Amino acid sequence: MHPNATVLLHPDFRTGTIDRRLFGSFVEHLGRAVYTGIYEPEHATADEHGFRRDVADLTRELGVTMVRYPGGNFVSNYVWEDGVGPVEERKPFIDLAWRTVEPNLVGTDEFLQWAEREGIEPMMAVNLGTRGVAAAAALVEYCNGVAGSRWADLRIANGREEPYGVRLWCLGNEMDGPWQIGHKDAHEYGKLAAEAGKAMKLVDPSIELVVCGSSSMQMETFGEWEQTVLSYTYDLVDHISMHAYYEELDGDRASFLGSATGMDRFIRRVVASADAVGARKRSDKQITISFDEWNVWYLESRFPGETNLPLQHQPARIIEDVYSGLDAVVLGDLMVTLLNHADRVPVACLAQLVNVIAPIMTEPGGPAWKQPTFHPFAATARLAQGDVLDVRVQTPTITTTRHGDVPAVTAAVTWAGERESGELGVFLVNRTAEPVEVELRHPGVALTLGGGVEVTADHEPAVHGPEHAAQIEAEHVATLDAAPVTASAPGTTTVRLAPESWTALSGTATLT
Ligand code: AHR
Repeated sequence: MHPNATVLLHPDFRTGTIDRRLFGSFVEHLGRAVYTGIYEPEHATADEHGFRRDVADLTRELGVTMVRYPGGNFVSNYVWEDGVGPVEERKPFIDLAWRTVEPNLVGTDEFLQWAEREGIEPMMAVNLGTRGVAAAAALVEYCNGVAGSRWADLRIANGREEPYGVRLWCLGNEMDGPWQIGHKDAHEYGKLAAEAGKAMKLVDPSIELVVCGSSSMQMETFGEWEQTVLSYTYDLVDHISMHAYYEELDGDRASFLGSATGMDRFIRRVVASADAVGARKRSDKQITISFDEWNVWYLESRFPGETNLPLQHQPARIIEDVYSGLDAVVLGDLMVTLLNHADRVPVACLAQLVNVIAPIMTEPGGPAWKQPTFHPFAATARLAQGDVLDVRVQTPTITTTRHGDVPAVTAAVTWAGERESGELGVFLVNRTAEPVEVELRHPGVALTLGGGVEVTADHEPAVHGPEHAAQIEAEHVATLDAAPVTASAPGTTTVRLAPESWTALSGTATLT
């Protein structure tokens, strides 16, 4: 059979090394992400600190390397000092972002110690909405300072001698968004971010800073925002943030299946915007991307909007999207795009980790379970090791309403090892409703494919609950003991992909 698509690879052609922080996630004080999500002291599996063991175990299985905290929109009205010290003295406050009374039972120390126990790197955000330079610098000192100064001594008095050494810091969150508490225009934010970042780096010069990019590519200020903000902060910051959520709208399945091409274009545009600022400055420095919110989220079709939320006095079920096999295929494809930008995207966070648009769900006092989107994330985090190869994909295209022409087949290949031989991770997506044959072309390379994971799309609406998630897993997530190879010859290996599917395969390769 004639192949429908070809993927040319060679270990001499590499895009970049995978930064393990690409497999990050996000825990915000939003809905049930913290309370009855990671933290529930009354739960049967709770550890001595009140954190759910079942959720922590699933987080480990998911392969999450880093977690962003405490927001999100939440951070823009958060007073971090109210969340440290003796718990019985902490006061609840109304979080204006999600209109929920925050009990302040979990704060900076509880989160950072949870992350440390679970072997997860923390990424912290500072409030540049209602607060500013002093509070941001104080938080860096609280987290990373050594004994002998006010905020570091407060941490020590609160029972934590060793600095946490938090490396990654977000300078606020989505400050371009009118919904953001303390929203600013690009000049106001650029100046504030520059001053806050300067102070934070004076406290700890080893930290990495993320300046806010646009909340999405659809923002009216997109592009202009990046250039203005970076004109103030280029020499100071390391990364610019990107956020993007994808959903099926009006039954337009083809556009939804093409979402990862939209993500690819978004990344290219932000890279171009950042490089344009660098060029104007005649700078050799390259700003990289922290894609610190990405996911499938039925934002336009199911979310009523932040200002329409009723005031909640208990952790409420806010944006607990239920995912399908189709959502899982799209999520896997989004990871293919992230991998293929390994040279410019070292940091990414699947938003979010538990209950809130999440791969892990819980019931209070009940079970924790995997949503279908859990599987492609976990398999990618496990199989994508080492470098990403600069593959050449030849494929027919599909015309979509939202993204124009998109490839029918997408691919990413990773290579861990020396030039002469390596372990492969092969990630392939078939966006069409027919099976396709993909010919891997590997001239001068002997290649053996092993097993992996295949996720196929479904057509039914997803239903909340562990039983339905288990049913989707049984019907649409397959562990492959062997690769679906249909033909092989020296220098070529052909695999068959199921309709609307995402496939990850392991393999070994040696130069001949
Ligand atoms: O992840 C949910 C919300 O989406 C975050 O709080 C915000 O940053 C974004 O709009």
